[in-house]
Amino acid sequence: MTWAGPQLYIATTRPADVEKILTNCLNKSPFYENFNDVMKDTLLTSKVSIWKEHRKMINPSFNLKILSSFHGIFVKYSREIVKYLYDVEGTEQTDFLSVVWEKTLDVALDDTIESKRFLPNLTKLSRTEQITREEILEETSFMMMAASETAAITINTILTILGIYSDIQERVYQELVSVLPNMESSPTQEELNRLDYLKRVVKEILRLVPTIPFILRYADEDIKCDPYVFPAGSNLVVPLVLLHRDPDVWPDPEKFDPDRFLPDEVAKRHRCSYIPFSYGARNCIGPSKIWNDAGKSNGCDDSEELQSTNCRYEIMEGHPVGIYGYAEG
Ligand code: HEM
Repeated sequence: MTWAGPQLYIATTRPADVEKILTNCLNKSPFYENFNDVMKDTLLTSKVSIWKEHRKMINPSFNLKILSSFHGIFVKYSREIVKYLYDVEGTEQTDFLSVVWEKTLDVALDDTIESKRFLPNLTKLSRTEQITREEILEETSFMMMAASETAAITINTILTILGIYSDIQERVYQELVSVLPNMESSPTQEELNRLDYLKRVVKEILRLVPTIPFILRYADEDIKCDPYVFPAGSNLVVPLVLLHRDPDVWPDPEKFDPDRFLPDEVAKRHRCSYIPFSYGARNCIGPSKIWNDAGKSNGCDDSEELQSTNCRYEIMEGHPVGIYGYAEG
């Protein structure tokens, strides 16, 4: 608990508190007003009254059937990322994140334009004055950013961690070879669904390095989290990065262990002990899409390229956060 001037901030990592907060507090903390220049009144930051209306209108554009229709777009740009990796093999250093970001932005643009649903649906509603043209523009550009930036950072983190743990990379590769015998052709959704080990690896990566490290909500009323009461008017912080490393829930929390996500292990934990896409009515609108992104970036690779990769990663001096890749000589 801390005061930042007149604002009270309370953080909790108890999964039961987290569930209560994310279920009951749908308003965002005033902290998000820092982003008003770029995303005022968009889904991420808007007050509940506006958010409820917009989410109702946008939700139908994110059903599974529509998302599955983007399969070809994901495959196309995944191949471009793989080609880039192949091209830079042997170079000392590469700005991989910028390249992936360019590709995920292309995916987001193609999705929006080719789906022929998101914009026309909203435009139809604007004719009945349920949403203004300015609001459509704001929501669309926010969606581009929400989709492309998070996906790029996540893909970058996944490949970095696979570079660090070569034994895990090898197991992922062996699974790919067995599930996708013909890597020249595009993987089907059914094949991607069978990449169980890869899915566990991605989940473990998002546990240790959640792309969104914290969530902030606002308490409109007192929230009772026995034995505490989080008072109305306070900012409630859910630090995902700490929640996902609580030693009482995650034994040896710093250890990279994808088997934490075997079904029996998952069943032992509280449903809010792991929430990279948040929880409750105001959770992320696009997680299933992200699982597709993650699967396909790794899934449609060419076997030779994977076998010949010898990338390792190191944290560069003076860049405590950025991780740069280099190929062994
Ligand atoms: C690995 C990638 C992603 C992660 C980890 C992620 C995570 C999150 C998190 C933690 C939130 C905050 C929810 C809260 O305040 O409780 C959020 C919100 C949101 N995300 Fe994502 N996200 C990802 C990708 C995407 C993609 C691809 C899209 C769009 C296609 C998207 C669209 C949104 C939207 C619209 C919101 C606001 C939801 C609302 O308030 O109703 N996200 N995301």
